[in-house]
Amino acid sequence: MANNQQPRDSFGTKLGIIAAAAGSAIGLGNIWKFPYITGVFGGGAFLVVYLICIALIGLPVMLAEFIIGRRGQKNAIGSFKALAGDSKWYLSGTMGIASAFMILSFYGVVAGWTLDYVIKSLTNTFAGLSPDEIGGVFGGLVSSTWTPIAWQILFMILTGFIVVAGIKDGIEKYAKILMPILLVILLILDIRAITLPGASKGLNFLFKPDFSKLSVEAVLSALGHAFFSLSLGMGTMITYASYINKKENLGITALQVTIADTAIALLAGVAIFPAVFAFGVEPSAGPGLVFITLPNVFQQMPGGYFFGILFFSLLSVAALTSSISILEVVVAYFSEELDFDRKKATILATVAITIVGIPASLSMGIMSDLQIFGLNFFDTLDYISANILLPLGGLIISVFVGWRLGRNNVRDEVTSGGKYKAGYIPVFLILTKVVAPIAIAIVFLNGILG
Ligand code: PFF
Repeated sequence: MANNQQPRDSFGTKLGIIAAAAGSAIGLGNIWKFPYITGVFGGGAFLVVYLICIALIGLPVMLAEFIIGRRGQKNAIGSFKALAGDSKWYLSGTMGIASAFMILSFYGVVAGWTLDYVIKSLTNTFAGLSPDEIGGVFGGLVSSTWTPIAWQILFMILTGFIVVAGIKDGIEKYAKILMPILLVILLILDIRAITLPGASKGLNFLFKPDFSKLSVEAVLSALGHAFFSLSLGMGTMITYASYINKKENLGITALQVTIADTAIALLAGVAIFPAVFAFGVEPSAGPGLVFITLPNVFQQMPGGYFFGILFFSLLSVAALTSSISILEVVVAYFSEELDFDRKKATILATVAITIVGIPASLSMGIMSDLQIFGLNFFDTLDYISANILLPLGGLIISVFVGWRLGRNNVRDEVTSGGKYKAGYIPVFLILTKVVAPIAIAIVFLNGILG
């Protein structure tokens, strides 16, 4: 994708663009991380802050990345260089490489768990187990040494293979079919969850905000997760947008991807929180939340055996369409800066990221004593990338489009040279110039210093 010597590729269809960008955005962030951090930070109030971050910061930053990528016609670093010459703006792309590296290290570990759960579902491991015992199965998996690492390695190999082969004819084609199926499964799970006894407690937890529970840390995490979930702040959407046809309407595309991503997160929340209360799981149970609550739900529904298999298979696919977009950022950098061919770059990046992921996996077992500022290695990678690097990257991207690129370039790009109306431009410019940078800076400084 990022090979500059070859004529630039582009997405064939409108649906292809949405599938690729939404495929990157929709992943473990929506179904694994969103419910678990919403649980940790107390529910409704966190959700409100998250939605505000999505609307006021996430959506404009996504459009900003689209503008940079399609106008620059290059990867995350190259696009800044193309648009801003020799100035230092491209360094935000370099920071993006670091984020990508860290995120994929722990993302591969969680994706490995989903693969393991496909097999556990196939072999009916959860049949007849109590909620506590189901929790024990999860605890047993993540704290063991070799099994999660083996799955993580397998997942990373799959990711590497797809990135080498190119995504257009492979994963993208399947994602277009599989993503809608995931949506349907989630809807079915939602219906089962909200008809469980005591479901209203879970829905209240999710939708009735109690702002007294809101901490500074929660606000920083909501902001960080908005970036993580929408795949923003590290150049993924810049890279993808460089393949979007000049004729496409960028504003509408950004809106569609943002809505799809948020809807899936909400549907996951609705599937999980009623079950949390119905089965007596702690909402703040942490990374195991989805892996503990949903097998309980599957036990309680007709055809649950098949739904379980299908759900975890599709979750693995959703993870894969995201992980390839993360790996692509690193591979593009390696192949250009180090002049490796694409295959070498992919192997190098995949191996390095997998190696860093191994201690992340072990930090839930034999390496749990290794704590950095009170966090284990897994949580440290997550915290630094999502809560620090992505918002910082988003701030720079926002300022770049608002102040450096300027109104005329923005207008020309979002209207495709006058083809589309874009009455929202003044609002977009206020958001990127002032609102997003100031909001990110405030949340960020509070979160880091406070
Ligand atoms: N957005 C993905 C998810 O929610 O699972 C994760 C991700 C992908 C983060 C790509 C960042 C990124 F650039």
